[in-house]
Amino acid sequence: MKNSQNQLKDKIIQKIKNQKDQRITFYEFMKMALYEPDLGYYTKNRTKIGKAADFYTSSTVGPVFGKTIANTFLELLPYSTDKEDYTILEMGGGDGRFARDALTGIKEKNLHIYEKLIYYMIETSPYHQDLQRERLKEHLDHVKWVDRLEEIPQPFQGVIFSNELVDAFPVHLVQMKEGKLKEIYVTWDEEKGDFAQITDEISTKELETYFLEQKIILKEEQIAEVNLDAIQWLETIVKFLDKGYVITIDYGYPADELYASHRQNGTLMCYHRHVANENPYQKIGDQDITSHVNFTELINRGEKLGLKTILFTTQSYFLLNSGILEYLQEIELNQMLQRDLFHDEALKMNRAIRQLITPGEMGETFKVLVQQKNVSDHQFRFMTGIIEQYGLSM
Ligand SMILES: C[S@@+](CC[C@H](N)C(=O)[O-])C[C@H]1O[C@@H](n2cnc3c(N)ncnc32)[C@H](O)[C@@H]1O
Repeated sequence: MKNSQNQLKDKIIQKIKNQKDQRITFYEFMKMALYEPDLGYYTKNRTKIGKAADFYTSSTVGPVFGKTIANTFLELLPYSTDKEDYTILEMGGGDGRFARDALTGIKEKNLHIYEKLIYYMIETSPYHQDLQRERLKEHLDHVKWVDRLEEIPQPFQGVIFSNELVDAFPVHLVQMKEGKLKEIYVTWDEEKGDFAQITDEISTKELETYFLEQKIILKEEQIAEVNLDAIQWLETIVKFLDKGYVITIDYGYPADELYASHRQNGTLMCYHRHVANENPYQKIGDQDITSHVNFTELINRGEKLGLKTILFTTQSYFLLNSGILEYLQEIELNQMLQRDLFHDEALKMNRAIRQLITPGEMGETFKVLVQQKNVSDHQFRFMTGIIEQYGLSM
């Protein structure tokens, strides 16, 4: 019996051999590597997020992340509905930690909203869906899992949230060659017994249009990722959202920074057991493959579709404005009152806050984008003091 890595590898090789040109786009390769049913990195039973796994997300750093964003939800929810109830939709919620901490935060701070809240979750990975059900036991009356947006009652009014969803979408790889945009394909080299890349004409005109629209011209030989699925995702959710907000947190940059000429090889990265590498053709199905998000695309495309950007900033600014330091004050107060507030817990929270907001760590690489639809402008607390939108002239 072959192990799942080899089964997946065989499936990809078979797919390549079935093609007339004996090749598939890198996009198709990455889609299979991450999402092939039962075998892909995200679809199979394997712990991916956390200490004993491959990578950390802000949600795993500590409950303070979800609890702080609960403050943002509490600010936005009253403006995002014409009805008497409240709705949040989280997409790609991973192991459910964020949802648990956000719901706990909402419950602690505003029982009225909590009681009238439904928290929908859409998660591609059956493995992660199971973890979410387990982790959200105490909030089960408020959580509903659906596979598709159509299963959620419409018109949808509320907040759509994601953390590190968009960076997990498969991407097209392109390269500038002799002044022309080309695409990178994956083939199987029988002699070497390994995958190999070839560069040829682009598989879809959309790739060319993408760079033309952003007025980006790659440098000769420069490799870059194009996340067309992110555009499709945005189009789908904007159509679905009747009124409310979209909060997207991920690592990424505005387009000119993302495609800057010093990024000669793009931003594609693989993670296995907390070690980063740049080779997507090893440990297929057992390592994560990700790329940085083009926030300019989400902002500009969003504007065209009817979303207004109200905030684009670093995670650090966003969390500071949303009240993350109040959790430190809570610890200090308890210490002053000599309450034996679980000393370890206090230290852990202190460390988590630092990790989430420190520029060299998660504070700056991660960006937060908040867009609104069909609501009037409000000055929310999480926007306070942010005069300049990160790296954008707006
Ligand atoms: C990098 S993980 C982030 C997990 C989580 N948000 C966190 O903060 O820990 C990406 C998650 O998105 C899920 N995912 C990928 N594409 C998706 C899609 N189109 N719809 C819903 N979930 C998706 C993956 O299965 C995975 O659970």
